[in-house]
Amino acid sequence: MKQFFIAFSVLATLFFTSSAQTCLSQTFTNNQKYSTCRDLSHLNSYLHWTYNESTARLDIAYRHGGVTSADKWVAWALNPTGSLGSAMVGAQSLVAVPQSNGSYTAYTSPITSYGTQLQEGDLSFAVSGLSVTYENSEVTLFASLTLTGVSTSVIHTWQDGAMSGSTPQSHDTTSGSANLLSKETLDLVSGQAQAGGSGSSLRRRRNVHGVLNAVSWGILMPIGVIISRYMKVFKSADPAWFYLHLTCQCSAYVLGVAGWGTGLKLGSDSVGIEYTTHRTLGIILFCFATLQVFALLLRPKKDHKIRFYWNVYHHSIGYATIIISIINVFKGFEALEVSAQDRYNSWKHAYIGIIAALGGIAALLEVYTWMVVLKRRKSEAKTSSNGINGANGYGSRPQQV
Ligand SMILES: *[C@@H]1O[C@H](CO)[C@@H](O)[C@H](O)[C@H]1NC(C)=O
Ligand SMILES: *[C@@H]1O[C@H](CO)[C@@H](O)[C@H](O)[C@H]1NC(C)=O
Repeated sequence: MKQFFIAFSVLATLFFTSSAQTCLSQTFTNNQKYSTCRDLSHLNSYLHWTYNESTARLDIAYRHGGVTSADKWVAWALNPTGSLGSAMVGAQSLVAVPQSNGSYTAYTSPITSYGTQLQEGDLSFAVSGLSVTYENSEVTLFASLTLTGVSTSVIHTWQDGAMSGSTPQSHDTTSGSANLLSKETLDLVSGQAQAGGSGSSLRRRRNVHGVLNAVSWGILMPIGVIISRYMKVFKSADPAWFYLHLTCQCSAYVLGVAGWGTGLKLGSDSVGIEYTTHRTLGIILFCFATLQVFALLLRPKKDHKIRFYWNVYHHSIGYATIIISIINVFKGFEALEVSAQDRYNSWKHAYIGIIAALGGIAALLEVYTWMVVLKRRKSEAKTSSNGINGANGYGSRPQQV
């Protein structure tokens, strides 16, 4: 019945991960509605906007979460003249700074040098209706921009940083930090975005990590379990099932550890992405799978008296690994979704298809082997009434214990 549990956990996980973009479910207290939104890749940020092509008017609401106390500045900017490589100078910024009474105030600031302290000044385009709210640890900037003469495919960037008294200080400038990655080219009309140079290598590494781990932990290991559970019941498949199981799990382990390593590196480079659960589960999986490798080396002989306990241990860790693996593949998709929106939806659908197929195959084999075993027991009951005890080893159901 473990297969049903696996199928169930897949469905349950699917249920909880199906919401693609967080911004789609966000609302505004002033009931303002925008035609498009994006979950931005860094700094817990979301951009909602409506762009009117004929008037070049852009209405935006920029939400910046994780501001638990009103002690940092927050900004969102368009840079009509810069490049993705240097998006700061030339950024036409909307800035929100905290007041001494704990509320925020907003103003505009054109950035002309890296040494800026976000001084107030007019932007290169007209801004109206600039306002800011601060509630539920979230700063939201509202404004209407008139972007006459500005390309509809434009660089935007978003930031936060510390205050010193009432003066904004430089944002985090650590290489690879979220504050240096928080920029992209945005097409105001289509809503498509393109991250900068470091973004694409990050994407490639995410792909490698995703493929390695989904294939090893998420597909090969369940196949290895199916092999051992359903082939073992047939006398003629011994010891072939054992070698197949071994090959499958060992190659899954090698690929899985490689994927795991890429994940650790990726994790330290993916600032601003919430993946704590994914990481924790990943570490548990690595420990479990490594235990299984040791279990193999320390396996007592089939007729040894502690073999029973070894079996209990091997099977419980094994099943737990499979269930956590599948859950963690979905956790990985979840982390990717936040960072790259719906680009990975087709991967997720493919994986759901594969795992559902494996679940279906396992369910059919479960029924089939039970039928074989029951039939065998019946005939063995007959033989043993003649004094021969055949109900040993292969005659019984492949027990989990
Ligand atoms: C754009 O603005 C013009 C002038 O305000 C208005 O007539 C038109 O309906 C707007 N277009 C859209 C798509 O909202
Ligand atoms: C905080 O102070 C500013 C003026 O500095 C004022 O405009 C604003 O209403 C005050 N907010 C609250 C919540 O008292």
